[in-house]
Amino acid sequence: MATVICVATQKGGTGKSSTAINVACALEVAGYRVIVVDTDPQATFSLWHRKRKKLGLNGFKVLQIPKGLLDEEIQALREDEKLDIILVDCPGNIEDITSTAVKLSDAVLSPLRPSSMDMTHSADTARFIKEMRNSYPDIRFILFLNAAMPRWNISRDIGPATREMLKNLPKTTVLEAKIPLAVAIAEFFGTGQSIFEYAPKSAAATAYKRLTKEVIQCLQN
Ligand SMILES: Nc1ncnc2c1ncn2[C@@H]1O[C@H](COP(=O)(O)OP(=O)(O)OP(=O)(O)O)[C@@H](O)[C@H]1O
Ligand SMILES: [Mg+2]
Repeated sequence: MATVICVATQKGGTGKSSTAINVACALEVAGYRVIVVDTDPQATFSLWHRKRKKLGLNGFKVLQIPKGLLDEEIQALREDEKLDIILVDCPGNIEDITSTAVKLSDAVLSPLRPSSMDMTHSADTARFIKEMRNSYPDIRFILFLNAAMPRWNISRDIGPATREMLKNLPKTTVLEAKIPLAVAIAEFFGTGQSIFEYAPKSAAATAYKRLTKEVIQCLQN
């Protein structure tokens, strides 16, 4: 059975698609057989993937599945013996498509920006997951800081504060890895490359590798 990970947040523009792209690539490089499901009507992941194919860079497939078919199609992918991981990129809110994707997932990966507003939204996301667990008790909830600015106090404080806020929520992890606010992340998308191809020696590439490793560890626990 393949594992389903969806990248989802309460809020738009937190870095879901940037994360989904680079985690999918890191998983593939690590030897996992990956497929991506793009559920966002903006089709951000699919646009990047088109650019990638034009470069002749082959690899995992990206499927666009409408909401009405998600349940059936993801269940079928989950049973595909040629797959290890199904990564689902969700749109910018927790309504509707995201709820459907979360219900079908083993883990929810949620980027959090260093702002008190994002902390409030991650509390909402946590409440949402708690409700989901009434019916789907095994969903893992994995948060991490995206666009971290080392010199900002809130970048340092938000990880421990979020851990404290979520400490009574089972199967919930705030990762140690932080993705920096980085020009390479702002730029890689337009190239059709992953961060590992576009800026292999950057702090951002190192951070995404670390993040992916921690996600794998969470799934194994
Ligand atoms: N760590 C980062 N450093 C610099 N720019 C970033 C970083 N993370 C995301 N961005 C930029 O922020 C914007 C939003 O990122 P992205 O599209 O990944 O978010 P999203 O959560 O998928 O958005 P949506 O909710 O619209 O789907 C993009 O312009 C992206 O390049
Ligand atoms: Mg997106």
